[in-house]
Amino acid sequence: MPTPAVYSFTRYLSAKRTVDDRALNRHVWNSLRSALAAYTPLNPPLTVFEIGAGIGTMVERVLEAHLLPACRYLLLDADSTNMQAAARRLAAWAEQRSGTTTAAASASPLALPPLAAFQIAAPAIPAVDVFTYAHDLFAFLADAGPTPAVDLLVAHAFIDLVDVPSTLQRLTAILRPGALVYLTINFDGDTILQPAIDPPFDDQIEQLYHATMDARIVDGRPSGDSRAGRHLFGNLKQTGIQVLDAGSSDWVVFPRGRAYPADEAYFLHFIINTMHGALRHAPELDPQRFDAWIAARHAQIDAGELVYIAHQLDFLGRYTG
Ligand SMILES: C[S@@+](CC[C@H](N)C(=O)[O-])C[C@H]1O[C@@H](n2cnc3c(N)ncnc32)[C@H](O)[C@@H]1O
Repeated sequence: MPTPAVYSFTRYLSAKRTVDDRALNRHVWNSLRSALAAYTPLNPPLTVFEIGAGIGTMVERVLEAHLLPACRYLLLDADSTNMQAAARRLAAWAEQRSGTTTAAASASPLALPPLAAFQIAAPAIPAVDVFTYAHDLFAFLADAGPTPAVDLLVAHAFIDLVDVPSTLQRLTAILRPGALVYLTINFDGDTILQPAIDPPFDDQIEQLYHATMDARIVDGRPSGDSRAGRHLFGNLKQTGIQVLDAGSSDWVVFPRGRAYPADEAYFLHFIINTMHGALRHAPELDPQRFDAWIAARHAQIDAGELVYIAHQLDFLGRYTG
């Protein structure tokens, strides 16, 4: 596909679905399945809380895999466009399976009013009440207060965007004792793009790109870690979350013949555009040389040549604090 003139974040998240499906660590996923089978919620039904939930692709994934019993599934994202897209996608998902979305049968376990509340009912799928919240996580936690209502916390491609130690600490306020914590696609310090264009320059760009993650400040808070994956072992322990399982979940995107599967060419163009946005004002880079490098990477995608690998780690933990 030609280089897009404008980019849509919701299309990027949709295109990311097949990349994530391949990447998620199967061993950690199966450990989550076993841990859920042995888990008894204190106050049924099971309450799942997914933070930075995007357009709800993880809900589709866990329902398709029959991972969850009947439950309440709370989705939170700062961007209301994402939460609206999630409600539309999940309704379409149910319809495609001869199901429906109707009014939620239970109440939200949190005092804050949801943006939307609905039940997904489809053949052979346990009924799931979905509650969407369009809130910044930190404002949400401040408003929700210490309500230990969550049995399973999910954060997929999210934790490496925030200050991990303080965010985990604040999240413990809403976890039930013994709650499960499933943190996936946590970036861990390697971005690989092949074929090489100019190896020393390629390496410099990779290092500068990772440095932008480490230096990122959002709302006055440090918000990122280019080695979030490996640091989670220590960060989880310090928060009273025992690591039950961990494993790599690298994104590996490559053409079959000269074509990428599904919408993965778009996914790649979005990643290259993100690198451009992060570094276009970097004083260390000559702007013309960097623009030419970016154009060459887009051209590699158009030609069905680019291979992209991002090293990431998945974790399953149990809150014991
Ligand atoms: C990389 S996306 C991942 C989305 C989704 N989990 C997925 O993988 O498809 C990160 C998401 O976190 C959301 N986000 C970032 N900072 C947030 C915050 N402070 N509070 C709530 N959501 C946030 C963004 O709006 C975005 O949708």
